[in-house]
Amino acid sequence: MSLTTNKNTAIPKNKFQFAQDVDAGLKSNPKYLSSKYFYDEKGDILFQQIMNLEEYYLTRSEYETFTLHKEEWHDTFSKGVDRFNLIEFGAGDAYKTKVLLNHFVDKNANFNYIPIDISGNVLDFLHKKLAQEIPKLSVTPIQADYFKAFDNIKQSSNSRNIILFLGSNIGNFTPSVAIDFFGKLKSKCGPNDYVLIGVDQKKDPNKILAAYNDSKGVTESFNKNVLVRINKELGGNFEPDNFIFFPTYNPLSGEVRSYLVSKSNQSVFIKALNNSYSIKAFESIFTEISKKYSLDEISKLADNTGFEVVNHYTDSKNRFINTLWKPKS
Ligand code: AVI
Repeated sequence: MSLTTNKNTAIPKNKFQFAQDVDAGLKSNPKYLSSKYFYDEKGDILFQQIMNLEEYYLTRSEYETFTLHKEEWHDTFSKGVDRFNLIEFGAGDAYKTKVLLNHFVDKNANFNYIPIDISGNVLDFLHKKLAQEIPKLSVTPIQADYFKAFDNIKQSSNSRNIILFLGSNIGNFTPSVAIDFFGKLKSKCGPNDYVLIGVDQKKDPNKILAAYNDSKGVTESFNKNVLVRINKELGGNFEPDNFIFFPTYNPLSGEVRSYLVSKSNQSVFIKALNNSYSIKAFESIFTEISKKYSLDEISKLADNTGFEVVNHYTDSKNRFINTLWKPKS
């Protein structure tokens, strides 16, 4: 394995970014650890469990919207072009996207599916599964971080790109990162392209908070998985039970913000960083933002990043929005 040295300690190259981010987050005031580090093999399983929780309405709502609108979207996406690319950022298991993939294949649409995900494991699994389940589907998987994936969006004549950014992944961006992301995306879009975004709507704050504070404690384990990963991958000695999992919802900003609050004064040593970090009693580590939007906020975000809203789609309970955008002319 190739090694990069940091102070006196050897950190494997593929863990260097993780180590750097953990060091910065634990030295910062207030402390933070990014939710992108919730996801490893165990974190992926926990997230699957979350999507099946009674309280977590998001996935079911978006799935229903896809079944309701697949025909209309097939017509919109294929109109006026010979073929199209369905490019999905953060594809995961493509649970909802499969509704479209199956329908488009049944309709003999001429299209290629390009799932992009940061996890090679997730992509390999998805690729194999799609080959079994939808053998006629053309798939080109790409392993990349969201912000590094833009270069894979190529224009070609008589074809259209449809960018999918589903599952309220937009909610895990702060508002300024969302503007940066969609602004960059706009610069890669041609005039015929579309962007379909899954956005969780502002609604009864109790329903929203319950989705992030489930009764089985799966979301707690999901957040604490960042500590488990630090222990496993960087030689940390976090005691996850020494932290209270505390999600909050602010109905004004629409932000669910989750924290791990220290139960006592404690010191954590991380071998790969050769450093100890002291955490005071009731000091918090901010772990995740999950922002909910109003329709006005969605339209404003489109406008501010160079897009116009074609239409908003929703489920029968009007919980979750799939908003379809095209570049402003
Ligand atoms: C992946 N992301 C959209 C999920 C969300 O709802 O913010 C992650 C999650 N965090 C806690 N529960 C689910």
